[in-house]
Amino acid sequence: MRSTRLIPMAFPLLLFILVVAGSGPAASSSAEAVDFASEIWPVLERSCLDCHGGKDTFSNLVVTSPEALLKGGDLGKVIVPGKPDESPLLTRTELPMDDLDYMPVEGEGLSEEETAALRQWIADGADFGDWTGTE
Ligand code: HEC
Repeated sequence: MRSTRLIPMAFPLLLFILVVAGSGPAASSSAEAVDFASEIWPVLERSCLDCHGGKDTFSNLVVTSPEALLKGGDLGKVIVPGKPDESPLLTRTELPMDDLDYMPVEGEGLSEEETAALRQWIADGADFGDWTGTE
């Protein structure tokens, strides 16, 4: 009767595997914090500034200071600290490029690494660190 002895063994083993597998994502989300000034700002400057506080300001969304970014645009907040999926600053860059809401409207879009960094930065609380904005 091997099988009846295996069942009670298999259960803790399965639990163990689940716990080990489950600790994976938790471990990676505590990876090093994303630094706004060196990792996020260069992306916004390259892909968003022209139309949001640079040459033009569409939808009253300005990306050149923490206050303006947290204030958001005509449609409301674009960053909800801790909630990347409710933050249009991120979600609009993650849409398929042919979606009407995709950002940027023109120019270089965000790479997967860049959206991942932006996602983590918002999830971690959208801390601007030393960055006080730019002129
Ligand atoms: C070529 C111009 C252009 C660029 C570049 C651009 N946008 Fe926009 N953006 C617009 C226009 C036009 C609107 C208003 C229409 C709309 O909401 O789609 C807008 C609106 C938005 C809104 C909605 C704001 C609100 O509250 O009404 C968000 C969020 C946004 N853009 C994010 C971004 C981000 C993030 C980037 C850079 C990755 C970016 N945009 C780059 C033109 C641009």
